[in-house]
Amino acid sequence: MSFATSRKAYDAFMGRYADQLAPLLIAFPGVEPGDSVLDVGCGPGSLTEALAAHVGAENVAAIDPSEQFATATAERVPAADVQLGASESLPWPDDSFDAALAQLVVNFMSDADAGVGEMRRVIRPGGTVAACTWDYSGGMTMLRTFWDAALALDSGAPDEAGTMHFNDPDKLRELWLRVGLEAVETDALVVEASYRDFDDFWEPFTGGVGPAGAYCLSLDPDRRAALREECRQRLGDPDGAFTLSATAWAVKGRVAD
Ligand SMILES: C[S@@+](CC[C@H](N)C(=O)[O-])C[C@H]1O[C@@H](n2cnc3c(N)ncnc32)[C@H](O)[C@@H]1O
Repeated sequence: MSFATSRKAYDAFMGRYADQLAPLLIAFPGVEPGDSVLDVGCGPGSLTEALAAHVGAENVAAIDPSEQFATATAERVPAADVQLGASESLPWPDDSFDAALAQLVVNFMSDADAGVGEMRRVIRPGGTVAACTWDYSGGMTMLRTFWDAALALDSGAPDEAGTMHFNDPDKLRELWLRVGLEAVETDALVVEASYRDFDDFWEPFTGGVGPAGAYCLSLDPDRRAALREECRQRLGDPDGAFTLSATAWAVKGRVAD
């Protein structure tokens, strides 16, 4: 369970991107102040917190199957309705919300058709279902650097560009249409994260978060040290602070009236 981890470990690894991505994912489908919104796969609450600031915490619900993450989100946004569970079986009745958002989650669902289908079920007619996933093949520099370095040392490394199915706008559009959503549109969301130095980039991988963190932890000390060095070279042996850009593919669709 690569998401059975603390908010601190997640934030150092992915939260620094998730915090930047959240306002873009809220703006993309046009979530309005006062809308009731569900955050699916909330993690430790980046999007939940941004939604609470935009629509009011009492209008926000969130769910995640990781107990540590659901607890962290409940602590971060106490007035939100935070539940422990998975997208494939949401604990809310039909037509409960104006919008459902899933930030960096669709690829982790055990059955994405069922998970996004459930998101559609709990949205009122005319409401919106939206999500985003990383551009694993190129645009997400932090993960791309890590997996290119891993592949250079181990041709069998489980590169997320291969293991994550929903990694381009066409596959997201097809999924949205398959579950019956209408007026489906896609776009690219681009963010940037800052690093104090190379260690600030590398250390979060050793926290074991997500597939990259799990792979890093699976290596013996010598192979992990070699991977660290390969990443450092691929980043141009940075001396001091640097920033990396990250592109996510976003999709939105409307629930039929
Ligand atoms: C990369 S994290 C994204 C977390 C958060 N949305 C963010 O933007 O920081 C993926 C999240 O999906 C959750 N997840 C995994 N399987 C899920 C499922 N079937 N339904 C809902 N969430 C799931 C994980 O527990 C994890 O919190």
